[in-house]
Amino acid sequence: MTIQWFPGHMTKARRQIEEKLKLIDVVIELLDARIPLSSRNPMVDEILKDKPRLVLLNKNDLADPQVTAEWVKYFAEQGLPALPIDAANGTHLKEILPRVKQLWAHKIESQLRKGINPRAVRALIVGIPNVGKSTLINQLAGKKIAATGDKPGVTKGQQWIKVGTEMDLLDTPGILWPKFEDQMVGMRLAATGAIKEELLHLDEIALFVVKYMVQHYGTGIQERYAIQELPEDMDNIHEVIKVMEAIGRKRGAIVSGGKVDLDKASLIIIRELRAGKMGRISLEKPLR
Ligand code: G4P
Repeated sequence: MTIQWFPGHMTKARRQIEEKLKLIDVVIELLDARIPLSSRNPMVDEILKDKPRLVLLNKNDLADPQVTAEWVKYFAEQGLPALPIDAANGTHLKEILPRVKQLWAHKIESQLRKGINPRAVRALIVGIPNVGKSTLINQLAGKKIAATGDKPGVTKGQQWIKVGTEMDLLDTPGILWPKFEDQMVGMRLAATGAIKEELLHLDEIALFVVKYMVQHYGTGIQERYAIQELPEDMDNIHEVIKVMEAIGRKRGAIVSGGKVDLDKASLIIIRELRAGKMGRISLEKPLR
């Protein structure tokens, strides 16, 4: 569920996360592997402070594996361990517990030294709406936990989910808001389905996708849509539109008179991208 965020929502969401943080040892920050920085809350460091943190790059089934590997390196350089996962299909989820335990190992060791039997490590999943928090919680719980909705105002008694004997997970995630100021960030969020497309125009998102695809995944798009020649100057909007038209034509998005229906073509482009039909595509690369 996508929600509108207002300053009041943000303050409330922040307060709720800060309340949860008091209960937990390790934060699991969920990002979208296709757009890790764009799917990241702008105030996350300030909110989480120095809680030990594991970054999970979710929806990696849809992301370009080479680019994801670059992101893992990028986060490691920032001192943050990062693990690509695919919560929907349950891929790499078994690696989460050892990574979380690693982040808490110093505490466990010190408890053992004092002769205390260490308790299970307590974790919280945080992330923006639609990044896959509920999917991951349900997978880790091994059963369907009732959805509480992505409303920052939703409150309910905290429950712990046992993930084996060594990790306890809060059953409700910490809901963070995305960045809104940067237009390119908005495009990436809309293209991947993190924010409602009504907030931006479909054709604008499709233009952004096509331009990015031609620049970074040219051969793939050319083969998939049987485009004879790709334009060189993708800063020329007319050239980008020509590619959109070629895709629309290939997919039969034609109106009477043989003209391409650009609205329909835009929808097809966005749907095919989100469904992974264009291949594994990342829409953001680390800046170095
Ligand atoms: P949230 O709690 O963070 O808001 O996200 P939620 O788990 O509801 O997931 C949002 C959407 O992302 C869901 O799709 C979910 O199936 C999908 N999703 C979650 N993890 C992955 C993943 O690793 N890979 C892929 N490809 N998709 C993932 P939806 O559109 O709401 O429903 P549907 O597509 O399942 O019908």
